[in-house]
Amino acid sequence: MRWCCPYLPLLLLLSFLLLFVGRATVSGVRICSYNVQKMSPKKLANYRVTHTLTRVVSRCDICLLQDVIDPTGKAVKALLASLNRGTDRYDESYYQSVSSRGLGNSPDDMQQYVFLYRTQAVQLTGQYQYKSNNKFVRDPFVVQFQSNKTDIKEFILVPLHSDPLKAVQEIDQLYEVFKEVSTKWNNTNVMLLGDFHAACAYMTRSDKKNIRLFTISDFSWLIGDRVDTTVKGIVNCAYDRIVVYGQPFLKAIEPFSAQVFDFGKEFKLPRTRVLEVSDHFPVEVMLKSSALLLQATPILILLSASVFVQSFLSSL
Ligand SMILES: *[C@@H]1O[C@H](CO)[C@@H](O)[C@H](O)[C@H]1NC(C)=O
Ligand SMILES: *[C@@H]1O[C@H](CO)[C@@H](O)[C@H](O)[C@H]1NC(C)=O
Repeated sequence: MRWCCPYLPLLLLLSFLLLFVGRATVSGVRICSYNVQKMSPKKLANYRVTHTLTRVVSRCDICLLQDVIDPTGKAVKALLASLNRGTDRYDESYYQSVSSRGLGNSPDDMQQYVFLYRTQAVQLTGQYQYKSNNKFVRDPFVVQFQSNKTDIKEFILVPLHSDPLKAVQEIDQLYEVFKEVSTKWNNTNVMLLGDFHAACAYMTRSDKKNIRLFTISDFSWLIGDRVDTTVKGIVNCAYDRIVVYGQPFLKAIEPFSAQVFDFGKEFKLPRTRVLEVSDHFPVEVMLKSSALLLQATPILILLSASVFVQSFLSSL
């Protein structure tokens, strides 16, 4: 046992450093969804709104924004400029965006789905505007991302900002979107997310039997029925949801990471500043980081433990 002792402090230091670095660099992919309530160039002209949105989005590797009213792209451009301020193209946190066109039934309420994503973390590998025959007021604008930072490698995101009065039908109809895009891209790693209005008067407990995302057990609802995804004092409803299909996707989710992000509390902002952006809070979920370092972690723990045992034995 004597051989170990001169190297012992070094070994200890090394293994703890490795553990630490392992944890620090192994960050997964955070996916967020935020109903930004009529996000327009006019709204972003308020620098406080842009500042708050920048702080919220910069925590996410992918952020789905809903209820964006930005036909010229000016608002999204301003938000991207704010997100990328002080970074050059070699910087890690370079954000890009992909947007749908304006979707809706009435010319004065045409909303876009917008995905903002960090190019260092994910690559966009597909986009597809679903077309139903008036089954949705705003047909999902589906995207596919590839990432080396997670086990799931390639996954599909299906957004929905439902029409409140057609919420049950539209949420059920998401199953048809799931079938079409998973066949189209030969990939069942599908996440469905957004302001579904899946709570309170718009979707009751007894409606669930008419929604295939509930009756087919392969779908997992990660944001529960009792969560309040709205800013307190408005209503108390789990409108915003994240749903994933299949065991592989479920296993790729960091346990207990699906949550509402109450940035008022986190950033210590008064309620008025929160409501300037939206009456919803973002919801989010974390995908586990890829297997390499996770597999290495038990080995590192073992190494540190053996060093401990050796140190204990040699001190006898
Ligand atoms: C991810 O991995 C694939 C296959 O190993 C490689 O071709 C690709 O360049 C990688 N992407 C990034 C961003 O590292
Ligand atoms: C679809 O994906 C599966 C597994 O990911 C693969 O085995 C199969 O060859 C793929 N089919 C096509 C048509 O690419």
